[in-house]
Amino acid sequence: MAASVSSNKVDLAVAGPRVARDDPDTARLELARDPVFARVAEEPARIRHDGHVGSGLPGRVALTDTAAVGTELRAFTVADIDGAARMLAERHARHRAVEPLLPAIDDFRPHVAREFSADGASGAVSLRAGEVDGYVIGTRQEDPIGPHVRIALAGSASREPERIRDLYAAASRIWVDAGLTRHFAFVPAVDDLVEPWHRLSFGTSAALAARASDRQAVPNGGATVRLSTAEDLRDAARLDLLLHEHLERAPSFSGLPQRDLDWFVDDWRTTWDDPKYTHFIAEREGRPVGHLLLYRRPAGDLRVPAASIDLANAATLPEVRGSGVGLALTAYAIEWARANGYRAITTDWRMTNLEASRFWPARGFRPTFYRLYRSIP
Ligand SMILES: CC(C)(COP(=O)(O)OP(=O)(O)OC[C@H]1O[C@@H](n2cnc3c(N)ncnc32)[C@H](O)[C@@H]1OP(=O)(O)O)[C@@H](O)C(=O)NCCC(=O)NCCS
Repeated sequence: MAASVSSNKVDLAVAGPRVARDDPDTARLELARDPVFARVAEEPARIRHDGHVGSGLPGRVALTDTAAVGTELRAFTVADIDGAARMLAERHARHRAVEPLLPAIDDFRPHVAREFSADGASGAVSLRAGEVDGYVIGTRQEDPIGPHVRIALAGSASREPERIRDLYAAASRIWVDAGLTRHFAFVPAVDDLVEPWHRLSFGTSAALAARASDRQAVPNGGATVRLSTAEDLRDAARLDLLLHEHLERAPSFSGLPQRDLDWFVDDWRTTWDDPKYTHFIAEREGRPVGHLLLYRRPAGDLRVPAASIDLANAATLPEVRGSGVGLALTAYAIEWARANGYRAITTDWRMTNLEASRFWPARGFRPTFYRLYRSIP
């Protein structure tokens, strides 16, 4: 099927509604309805990715700071994929030591190759004694706000965290020359890997997160939670519209396209025929007051744990917030996931969604990746 329901909270993947799409590029699934993620890619790529990057680097650049003597930078080429895959393997091993729910991956070459073979991909690589010791690859994307560059989950790694700043300096020159002044980077939620990006003026705009689906005592919060049916279509659409409106307001200012209830009804219509989704409704005195959507996110990228399911969309009516409906829905969904053989549950939120950015961490979700954002100027 093409696109179905808002599987994605995001705001990302972040917190607004997302639409899951069948797409082998799992990175695209992350936030499909989030403008940050919705790829339109209508315009031809302006950046070449054959190693002769547009207005790119003038050959090799030798770095001169003390820690980097002997390090060279140049444009990323196909010949660098194996070396970059080794760096990504090191990064992921480090990341898994911090977050054991992350998937075990044998071969990182396809992850790097996928980034570099995407339309509009370009980047920089650093070499020490002739060996790749870091890289950054970004791809040109398009959203309702305009063109931007995305450095995806497998788009950067550096043995020396500080070196990422030199790599970004080299690559961003190409992007800004091509008129691309909005930059997103997905970076492991490991302090010393994130920190150098903050010193490049990147801010944290969203989190991807995970937790184990262990046994839950389900509080009822005065609400009854049940699996939904197609009869619940309009209530699900209304609750999703609430989330959409919530994200339009301060401080998210999502910039998502205006949608009315009919649009959401259409979007949700096929949910109950699609095995990718499981949806729950919470009721008080027979009245729907909240909902939660689980989405079977395809495995295969660096963030999707084995045997996991994604908590892709949730909302409660404004007048019941703070009274336990969200707790009841979340505990019910986690318990349902555990009972159905899912060992982990993922989710994501925009940092500017105040409710979500407080509620999900308090429910035990640990950030796995941060989405960082910089706009120039
Ligand atoms: C995020 C959201 C789903 C949470 O739902 P909710 O119904 O407010 O959740 P609850 O009422 O169960 O819990 C909210 C807080 O109230 C507390 N609470 C619950 N019942 C309570 C009670 N009877 N007395 C006092 N506090 C209570 C909870 O402990 C929680 O606080 P904590 O996170 O500090 O522990 C809701 O805020 C929402 O719909 N927001 C807008 C849409 C949105 O952002 N959705 C998420 C997309 S990613």
